[in-house]
Amino acid sequence: MKKIAIVGMGFMGTMHAQIYNQLRDATLVGVVDKRQAKARQALAKMGIQAPVFGTLDAMLCACDVDALDICLPTDLHARFALEAIAAGKHVFCEKPLALTKADGKKIAEAARKAGVFLQVGQCIRFWPEYMALEAFVKSRKAGRLLSLSLQRRAGRPTYSEGDWLNDSRRSGGAALDLHIHDTDFVHHLLGCPEAVTSSGTLDKSGWSHIFTNYHFKKVAVTAEGGWNLPANWGFQMAFQAVFERGAVEFDSGASPTLSVTIGAGKKRALPFTNPGAGESSTGAGNLSSLGGYYNELAAFVSCLQRKRAPKIATGAQAADSLATALAEIQSAATGRTVKR
Ligand SMILES: NC(=O)c1ccc[n+]([C@@H]2O[C@H](COP(=O)([O-])OP(=O)(O)OC[C@H]3O[C@@H](n4cnc5c(N)ncnc54)[C@H](O)[C@@H]3O)[C@@H](O)[C@H]2O)c1
Repeated sequence: MKKIAIVGMGFMGTMHAQIYNQLRDATLVGVVDKRQAKARQALAKMGIQAPVFGTLDAMLCACDVDALDICLPTDLHARFALEAIAAGKHVFCEKPLALTKADGKKIAEAARKAGVFLQVGQCIRFWPEYMALEAFVKSRKAGRLLSLSLQRRAGRPTYSEGDWLNDSRRSGGAALDLHIHDTDFVHHLLGCPEAVTSSGTLDKSGWSHIFTNYHFKKVAVTAEGGWNLPANWGFQMAFQAVFERGAVEFDSGASPTLSVTIGAGKKRALPFTNPGAGESSTGAGNLSSLGGYYNELAAFVSCLQRKRAPKIATGAQAADSLATALAEIQSAATGRTVKR
């Protein structure tokens, strides 16, 4: 049984607490949040018993923990991740790993040197429909992948503590907070692009909507991510992958969510499995399950339990895709193609 403490009990910390509560090999032994009363309320609502502390030091003094799960605003990731690593704890850190390339590398390097595990919340690598696409590409059932287009769109977030998400110095804007999921998935599927060419919209939250062409020799790749849509518009993640003899399409708002068209055949649902949860699904209503959020934490806990370092969404991988997302921002800001 692995003992986990969550640092930051807001939107994401609360979801992670729910998931650890469902995982057989994990137990939540402590929570850190500066809003202690609110954190206690959230735990009580979920029927989870764990002590709440106002600081990381106080929690580390009182609790015996194997791993820390950092769900703090992004500008605090580097400080708290480095403190946790220095204390010899394994770390799960929410995405993006940091706000700068230097901090991303520093955290990944510190974990490597300390010999502790570091996994980053790049949950799309664990999201069932994206895993199904990865398997389909590898299978070559419809030949070679010719092009991939990815979208991630949302209304402006209004819920974050102190509205940190709308402060570019704290969140990096939608380009880092939201769109990085697709940048990271492109890395996962195809490796690091040679260069990026981006454009977008800029406001006080930073790059609030970004459009990028990723330069690869053999496949055309584009992604769009932003939160400029109207508040009540909702959320959509989607992709269209075109192959020599077919297409695979995903839309989080559709039912079924994932479809395939091969050769002269009709478009049909593409069945997929949700490996972490051990469930099988046809995709209907999949967003209501915790999908990749569950799978990534199940994988992290399994790594702790088996004493095997994570291989998917590692610190080094997340630092690499962070560097690409920052190159996209630089490209949008300068109007130039930026090499990676
Ligand atoms: N993987 C995903 O799809 C996904 C989705 C949402 C958020 N996130 C990431 O999760 C992280 C947290 O985002 P969120 O949406 O939960 O934000 P949030 O504002 O809901 O929660 C942040 C929590 O941190 C606490 N906090 C702030 N400063 C603190 C400090 N110094 N010490 C202790 N506690 C402190 C706040 O009180 C709050 O409860 C961010 O990095 C965000 O990018 C990831």
